[in-house]
Amino acid sequence: MDIEFVAAAQALPAKTALARIVFEGAALDGPLGQAAAASRFTGGKGQTLDVLAPAGTEAARLVLVGVGKPDGFDALGVEHAAASAYGAVKASGLTTLRIELPDAGPELAARAALGVRLASYRFDKYRTKEPAEKKPSIVKTEVVAGDSTAALAAFAPLAALADALSFTRDLVSEPANVLYPAEFARRVKALETLGLEVEILGEPEMMKLGMGSLLGVGQGSIRESQLAILRWNGAADKKAQPIAFVGKGVCFDTGGISIKPADGMEDMKWDMAGAAAVAGLMHVLAGRKAKVNAVGILGLVENMPDGNAQRPGDVVTSMSGQTIEIINTDAEGRLVLADAVWYCQDRFKPKFMVDLATLTGAIIVALGNDLAGCYANDETLAANLIAASNTEGEPLWRMPLPAQYDKNIDSMIADMKNTGGRPGGSITAAMFIQRFTNGVPWAHLDIASTAWKKPSSVPTIPDGATGYGVRLLNRMVAEKYEG
Ligand code: BES
Ligand code: MN
Ligand code: ZN
Repeated sequence: MDIEFVAAAQALPAKTALARIVFEGAALDGPLGQAAAASRFTGGKGQTLDVLAPAGTEAARLVLVGVGKPDGFDALGVEHAAASAYGAVKASGLTTLRIELPDAGPELAARAALGVRLASYRFDKYRTKEPAEKKPSIVKTEVVAGDSTAALAAFAPLAALADALSFTRDLVSEPANVLYPAEFARRVKALETLGLEVEILGEPEMMKLGMGSLLGVGQGSIRESQLAILRWNGAADKKAQPIAFVGKGVCFDTGGISIKPADGMEDMKWDMAGAAAVAGLMHVLAGRKAKVNAVGILGLVENMPDGNAQRPGDVVTSMSGQTIEIINTDAEGRLVLADAVWYCQDRFKPKFMVDLATLTGAIIVALGNDLAGCYANDETLAANLIAASNTEGEPLWRMPLPAQYDKNIDSMIADMKNTGGRPGGSITAAMFIQRFTNGVPWAHLDIASTAWKKPSSVPTIPDGATGYGVRLLNRMVAEKYEG
């Protein structure tokens, strides 16, 4: 999508749809009033009214976009309105969308552009037979801005965010025959062109480090497990203590020997969404040259049943030295994170660590499909994450780490076992990871509920991979940890 900020007076290109914001209850006169009355359009949030070639404009179509009451119309509202306008005309055959906002200030104009960028994301590389008339026709968006230079400057960090989100969504959408651990590693290695430093460890290196927990998960796969380490040193002091992010990257989760039912198993291609979000975060930090030192660690494995796969009852030794009895090979994400989180704090001594993982079905049972779960051993970190999640529209709900549940993962023969049973399944999974944090300030985001949406109810998020986590972490870093 080509984005341009233009003056209101600039002539409309041919084949343009013009989008105009309408507040709830605003009077529309003449033919527009008639059209609204004939279609139940009242300006309510999310409503659109598409009017063909109206008299008095050069536009081929006029799209009225309802945004509710003026006092509820904030930056996210602008994004959603722009995204809804795009949705209304994307396959109309017209090629340009021009958006007029009630306030043509640079910040909101930039947010409108972001809304269209996010809404126009599409993963269509494997469609070879889609008829042309079904494909989106809008290739350019013009946002009217009072000062187009200022708007373009305000859009720069948001364009970096949109690029990063496309990167994350692509990774999450890719099928597992294409995106296996080494391929994921190659794609993050390519981010070095943005100025990131990327190291990739393979199985021999992880063996040396003693990562028996992570390696046990990948043991049944013909694909080699990988650990990717991404670094962005943007702070004035390149040696300053970094902040750190760790992602679960299970490129496919069959469940292993504790195999999952066939129904819906295809969803487990996106069991690497935590790692993809961390990669996307590092992408945007580099893309907008954030003034922070940050580390991203991705634990990349494939969980397969095989003659060589790990068995229920096996005991593995993690890098921390702690031993783990495997009760269920489908509780593999925590085993990957155990070593990735330990490695992170051991090597980088970060200010804090945040891990992201599509960790449990239980978080979906607890919170439904709109909220991710936030576990934290540090109040400031938790508050910063929740505040950023609200600002960015990536809902997050604080969950408890009750000390009395810790014994649920004690094992009879090892230091711990990898499941604590069904009750509180997302909580005991978090408490398992907590045992590998070594007391470092830490938060765990269980994003099994939010990484993939079908159908999506948010206009800036097309069906499928959401990229959940990139926005909220980027916001938290920008507001609390830069400079
Ligand atoms: N990747 C799954 C969790 C998941 C489920 C993500 C649904 C997205 C949608 C995870 O590895 C898993 O299998 N968890 C088990 C844990 C259980 C065996 C203790 C679960 O949630 O059932
Ligand atoms: Mn699993
Ligand atoms: Zn999994």
